[in-house]
Amino acid sequence: MQGIEGRVFFITGAAQGIGFAVAKALGSLGGHVALADVNAVRTLASAEQLQAEGVRALGYTLDVRDAQATLDVVNRVESDLGPIFGAVPCAGIARTQPAETMPAQAWRDVIDVNLSGTFYTCQACVQGMLLRRSGAIVNIASITSFGGQPGRANYAASKWGIAGLTKTLALEWGSHGIRVNAVGPNAVDTPMLPIGVPERFTRDVICDRTPLGRIAGAEEIAAVVVFLLSDQASYVNGAVIPVDGGLTSGFLTHRQGRDYGSPAWESLSG
Ligand SMILES: NC(=O)c1ccc[n+]([C@@H]2O[C@H](COP(=O)([O-])OP(=O)(O)OC[C@H]3O[C@@H](n4cnc5c(N)ncnc54)[C@H](O)[C@@H]3O)[C@@H](O)[C@H]2O)c1
Repeated sequence: MQGIEGRVFFITGAAQGIGFAVAKALGSLGGHVALADVNAVRTLASAEQLQAEGVRALGYTLDVRDAQATLDVVNRVESDLGPIFGAVPCAGIARTQPAETMPAQAWRDVIDVNLSGTFYTCQACVQGMLLRRSGAIVNIASITSFGGQPGRANYAASKWGIAGLTKTLALEWGSHGIRVNAVGPNAVDTPMLPIGVPERFTRDVICDRTPLGRIAGAEEIAAVVVFLLSDQASYVNGAVIPVDGGLTSGFLTHRQGRDYGSPAWESLSG
């Protein structure tokens, strides 16, 4: 993978889950990684885990809802590790609730972390990238950037927002040598997954309707993020790439993406 070794990458939500998997994958390719997360203890532990594996990694406590704090941390990272080449705003939360009874706080929490936090991170990191006329940003969208999901009005709105933000930043910053893309994962095996998602939903709906028949490992999302950060993706800009095992390729599906209830298909497949 070209363009990772020796470069500095800033990852939020990096204490665990997809963010940590991205940091680990970049570190294994010789990238220098700054892990930022609101969970101070887990961030330092995760950075230490990567250091023990020989990675140049540092941990920073950050609440991405605070634009000024995000800029301050980005400036500290640049003086500690050097110019940031790549940014991955991975901090995210879910607060599941039917729309008609969703408290305003649950709406604001998710929009503030997922959407505003992503924007503040992009804005902070692009300052140096614009001066250097080089950089790559990969935002974390979702399958709910392509459709809705009952109980997740706040989350789906935040993820459609991230898709729109990604495309707009790709237009604004592409001519300055900075690429902005996003990945849209299906369900991923991280600590976030069971929050508001019963195990039977994962099994009976997600796995049933996903052609590959399973949820993703965090490292499978990280692999696409790393590709988009790398020089191999030098002509990819403004893309929101589903990483979903085929889930969003169709709607009326059942039994690993097969035609839902079609007699013709049933007679063919037995
Ligand atoms: N797990 C899934 O099924 C899935 C699917 C699609 C998209 N995503 C997205 O991937 C991203 C990462 O999710 P994950 O599954 O790794 O979740 P996770 O809960 O495992 O990790 C999220 C991390 O974000 C941190 N965080 C939360 N609020 C923060 C804040 N205000 N400031 C800084 N850090 C904060 C948490 O401390 C945690 O370490 C999120 O944007 C999520 O929406 C996840």
